[in-house]
Parts: sequence; C-alpha cells; structure tokens
Amino acid sequence: MAARKITRRQAITTASAGALGTMVSWKVPAFTHSTITQETLAINGGPKVHETSWPQWPVWDQSAEKNITDMLRTGKWWRGNGEYVSDFEQRYAELMGAKRCLATASGTTALITALKALGVDAGDEVLVSPYTFIASYNVIFMNKALPVFVDTDPETFLMDPSKIEARITERTTAILPVHIYGLPADMDSINAVAKKHNLKVVEDACQAWLGQYRGKKVGTLGDAGCFSFQNSKNLPAGEGGAIISNNEELMDRCHSLHNCGRPYGTVPKTSSYPISGSNFRMQQIQALILMSQMNRIMKDADIRLGNAMLLDAKLREIPGIVPYKLAPGAERSAYHLYPFRFISKDFGDVTRDKFIRALNAEGIPCSSGYGKQNKDGLIEDTLNSRGFKRLFPESRLKQWREENVLPGNDKLTTEAVTFTQNILLGSKNDMEDIVRAITKIYNNRKSLN
Ligand SMILES: Cc1ncc(COP(=O)(O)O)c(C=O)c1O
Repeated sequence: MAARKITRRQAITTASAGALGTMVSWKVPAFTHSTITQETLAINGGPKVHETSWPQWPVWDQSAEKNITDMLRTGKWWRGNGEYVSDFEQRYAELMGAKRCLATASGTTALITALKALGVDAGDEVLVSPYTFIASYNVIFMNKALPVFVDTDPETFLMDPSKIEARITERTTAILPVHIYGLPADMDSINAVAKKHNLKVVEDACQAWLGQYRGKKVGTLGDAGCFSFQNSKNLPAGEGGAIISNNEELMDRCHSLHNCGRPYGTVPKTSSYPISGSNFRMQQIQALILMSQMNRIMKDADIRLGNAMLLDAKLREIPGIVPYKLAPGAERSAYHLYPFRFISKDFGDVTRDKFIRALNAEGIPCSSGYGKQNKDGLIEDTLNSRGFKRLFPESRLKQWREENVLPGNDKLTTEAVTFTQNILLGSKNDMEDIVRAITKIYNNRKSLN
C-alpha cells in the first residue's frame, strides 16, 4: 500500500497554520471487513449502496447577482474601463501569497503567455508532464516549441524528477510540471534540476488552487504559476485563468503580452505596441463571478480535505485499491479530483472497466482518468506540419519519436480511477457509502468475472 508522507494530525496542523481557516474535525470511523455487505452487486441486479444524488457543481452564489446586474447596466464590460478584474487580481494574489496576479481569458492563455514571457521561442524544447489535460502540452506547440514528455511516477501521478535530466537537450529552455488533480509536484527536485541547467519553470496549477507545498501555495514555487477557472474547476467562472509570480518585470511583460503588446510597467513605451502580444484579457463578468466564488473556496477546500482523509484511511484497507501518494514536500492536495490506482490482480483479476461500471451501478460516479496523451493524434499532426519541419531537423524529430516511451505513465493510464471534486463535497455518510460500495464489489468480485 502507498504510504502517506504526512499524518492526518500533521495535515490538520499545517492547514490550520496556513491561510485555510478552521479545519473541519473528522473522525475516521472504525471499519472492519465484518461490516461488509454480501448483497448482490447492483450491476448484477442487486440494491444500490448509494441511492441519493451528489452535490452539484458549480454552486451559484446569490451575492453575485446584484453586482453582475449593476455592472451590466453600466456598459463597462471589459477590463479597460472597469475595476473588477484588477480587484480580483489583487485578491487572488493575496490568497496565493504571490506579489502579483494577472487574470486571463483561460488557463490555456495563461500558460501560453507565461511561457512566452519567460522567453520560450520557436524551435525551443519544453519538458512537460504527460499525465495531464491536452492544454499542458498544446500551449508549448502554440509557442512553436517542442513538448518533451518526462515520465510519470505512477504512485504520485506526477512528473518523476529523476527522469528529467535525460530529456534535456541544448534546445531545452523550460520545465512545465503539472500539479495534476491538485496534487503538488516535487518542486524542490524540479527546481534543483532547472537551476543546474538554467531552465525556467512554469507550474501548471490549472487544477491546484490552494494546494500546499512546504508551507507555500502551489503556483508560487516556480518562475510563474498558471490557473484555470473553467466551469468544472474548484474556483469556476465559466472560463478564466490567471498567472501568478513574484517577479515584477515578468508580470509586466505578461500584462503587455495579454493586452495586444501594449506598454505596461517596465515594458517600454517605445511605440503603441512594442512587443508582439495578443488579446487574452479577462472580462469584468468573469472577475465578479470569481470574487463571489472566492467566498466559499476555503470552506470547500477544507471539506474536500476532510473527506479525502477519510477515503485515504479506509480505501487503502481494501486489497487492490491504492490511493495516490503525496510527493516529497507536498502537504496538501487541492483535490480537483480524488485519484487512486486499481490493481486488477489484487482484486481477483476484475478489469478496471468492469470495476468502474460496477461502482457506477452502486450509485458512485467515477471514471478512469487520462489516457496515453503522448500518443495523441495532435502530436503527430504538429510534428508533420510544414512549419514544424522547418523548425526542427528530421534527426531530432526521429529521436523524439524513439524516446516517446513512458512506461510509468502507460502503467498509470491502465490503473487510475478518479472521483471529481464535487463528490468530495458530500457528507461523511456519502464517503462511507463509497467505501462500502468498493468493499461490496471486492467481496463479490467473483460475480464480476
Ligand atoms: C492541467 C490543466 N492545464 C491546463 C488547462 C487549461 O485550462 P482552460 O481550460 O481554462 O484553458 C486545464 C483545464 O482543464 C487543465 O486541467
């Protein structure tokens, strides 16, 4: 079974000492296999373990209604003539413990901007996690650079820092670790390699609001951190994104880049558009929704943590169920999803797909996580494009294809099972239903073959 790096008591102490408000006090109930039901599985026609619905997401906060209507009536809908985007930037920077925040149209545009501001250019290479959403490496292509995948540690679901150095070439300019599902990556090790090879680090924290690593919020650990506020996210606004950093000059450059290249701060006023930027601005309505959602983010984060700890303690008692392991230095996940690995051979050779269908039938929504993204069609499509062939010699692209072999990531893509963050907003009884349902399936595993 995977060993957690901190105890429950340490997690509570750490979180309480931080900016996360009062922790919910959870007692993990005693649970033995004698409490396991032998009833027929729901997938085989038996009764469901969980009959009721799960918390819906997003949750509409009525406090936003008047502010949005008032703003609508002013006609000041863009950041150029309204104050709400700047207000949000200030509040988000404070929440994260960063000097500066720049709001953007999306997480994708935040990542494109941060990479470009840090100097990633056509023909460069960027090291990236493969166990992630497509945007994490698409933004590298958008900057006309080559994403080079670093294998995943299946136990942590994160970039394996011991695999980074072998992937560095003379074209490598940056590392883009992804705090996937909200799990903080091993940033000390990643930053050490970056420092040794003079590489920039952009954290993809698009799923990791309030994740914590050695007392700091994730997103503040590299040169820049990027977030997404898309509809499903723990801090949602339909669409939206942000870059945070303590580097003032870098943030000036990001601001200029996201605003068509107009001068800003230290970006010189040598012309109307001194640098080559684009329009990646956030709208006023997004900022108002975000500020209303920020009223609940701490409380929700604590509820998810309490429920995750209950699941951690109980699920690891079931053979074949291995909850995620926190990376060294990681203190708290943001739990955009709760992940565990399903080890088929320890579960009577039931396949993962069958297990997922059986769990869904018991009234517990879950899914299988990311696939082998490093083999996705968009990659070959880009590598074979006319422009890309001009940027990279055929020998480099051939080598890239030969090295695009990721055994750790491949293993994880066949084992992962996830619960979405709204499931973790359920009650303690809901969590116990999850444990009961998985235990029921384990006890009746022979009926699934
Ligand atoms: C890990 C990761 N990176 C980047 C993004 C891109 O964010 P957006 O959808 O806001 O553009 C997402 C969004 O789902 C994500 O999950």
